[in-house]
Amino acid sequence: MNPRRTIPAVLAVLLLSSLTLAQQDVPFLESPDSVVEAMLELGQVSDEDVVFDLGSGDGRIVIAAARAGARGVGIEIEADLVELSRTNATEAGVAERVEFIEQDFFESDVSEATVLMMYLWPQVNRRLAPMLVEQLAPGTRVVSHRYKIQGWREERRIKVEGRPIYLYIVPDSPFR
Ligand SMILES: C[S@@+](CC[C@H](N)C(=O)[O-])C[C@H]1O[C@@H](n2cnc3c(N)ncnc32)[C@H](O)[C@@H]1O
Repeated sequence: MNPRRTIPAVLAVLLLSSLTLAQQDVPFLESPDSVVEAMLELGQVSDEDVVFDLGSGDGRIVIAAARAGARGVGIEIEADLVELSRTNATEAGVAERVEFIEQDFFESDVSEATVLMMYLWPQVNRRLAPMLVEQLAPGTRVVSHRYKIQGWREERRIKVEGRPIYLYIVPDSPFR
């Protein structure tokens, strides 16, 4: 091995992986099953809905929504998690009613959502809020596990396993 070649190559790999990690605004943490069920209930998800999950992890919310008869769309930046979600959806028998898109949610089009789910950090919610106001139709239900969307009026708040879950409804006029 030639160290004059190996060291720059290792540095390049480290730099590339740190750039890749930097894209993930929130790490993967699962919503427990009881929380997923409560989120669907709070959002009154039915077979008429299109349910988006921003940062869909292993696909559990999208798959649960599809099991309730809805169409589900997961936006997830980690390729491995997108792959896992597709496998999980196939195993759950709902693959034809779900779609997993490998994408940065700040660049996504969520205008089709009738229900939008999120389990993200407060500062990420704050950064996403203007995009949601711009894209979501009035009446869209937004359900956020654990963290509020600052400045938005809560429609309801419940607690499951000690975790708050917030419901917002997009009004006719913008929130801000
Ligand atoms: C806290 S986990 C929530 C997972 C799932 N929604 C749940 O409740 O079980 C946040 C997810 O967002 C993803 N994520 C982080 N930043 C992202 C971004 N900019 N665009 C898309 N997904 C992102 C992470 O990879 C992770 O899977």
